[in-house]
Amino acid sequence: MKHYSVAIDGPSSAGKSTIARAMAADMRFIYVDTGAMYRAVGLFVSRLGIDSTDAERVITCLPEIDIDISYIGEEQHIFLNGEDVNSLIRTESASIHASNVSAIPEVRAFLLDYQRSFAASNNVIMDGRDIGTVVLPDADVKIFLTASAEVRARRRYKEQKERGEKVTYREVLKAIRLRDKNDSTRASAPLRAADDAVVIDTSDCDLAGACELVRRTIREKIGL
Ligand code: DC
Repeated sequence: MKHYSVAIDGPSSAGKSTIARAMAADMRFIYVDTGAMYRAVGLFVSRLGIDSTDAERVITCLPEIDIDISYIGEEQHIFLNGEDVNSLIRTESASIHASNVSAIPEVRAFLLDYQRSFAASNNVIMDGRDIGTVVLPDADVKIFLTASAEVRARRRYKEQKERGEKVTYREVLKAIRLRDKNDSTRASAPLRAADDAVVIDTSDCDLAGACELVRRTIREKIGL
């Protein structure tokens, strides 16, 4: 049986996960947040006090790491060695550790099979940085979702404030620029739009407008 796959890539805080989740619910596809997998690996090593940029030590940990996804309602929960770590992986420091471990090719290879096997047996909307370029090069739809660093920082700042975190807009913007740089300049599977991706810039749209653009693109490609 044919399974459809929709790849949504783009820089951090471009709205990928919110939009992908909404599309998945609409289309009854499974939403897979691959960033959460990198975050879980980052969490594992940081708990051991290992520097997440120390590739050699991170690689030696991989055999001890088991990552699993399950769904509670429609929400994806990520399990690290059986522990639901969903709420622990969203902090600023978890973001940095995730970005660091994601630059290590062995970590990427470690997660790749799992990501591909999910798409082989489900209709998926998968978001990340390299879904259209590396993980699912034959995806039925490829979207590269982006927005200016300032717009993304403003959105993220608002979310963090709402969660009661003590941050300034300047700190958030600096962190976003650092992650953009790390994610797009790394040697292994850097962030970039696939040649056949539809690029959607959401700098000037609200969430409903961005969802509409994505929905239209998916419909044009696969008619669902
Ligand atoms: O989407 P996110 O912010 O949760 O991702 C966390 C980090 O993981 C991000 O800095 C880039 C990395 N990542 C990646 O390299 N490849 C993916 N497919 C998903 C995320």
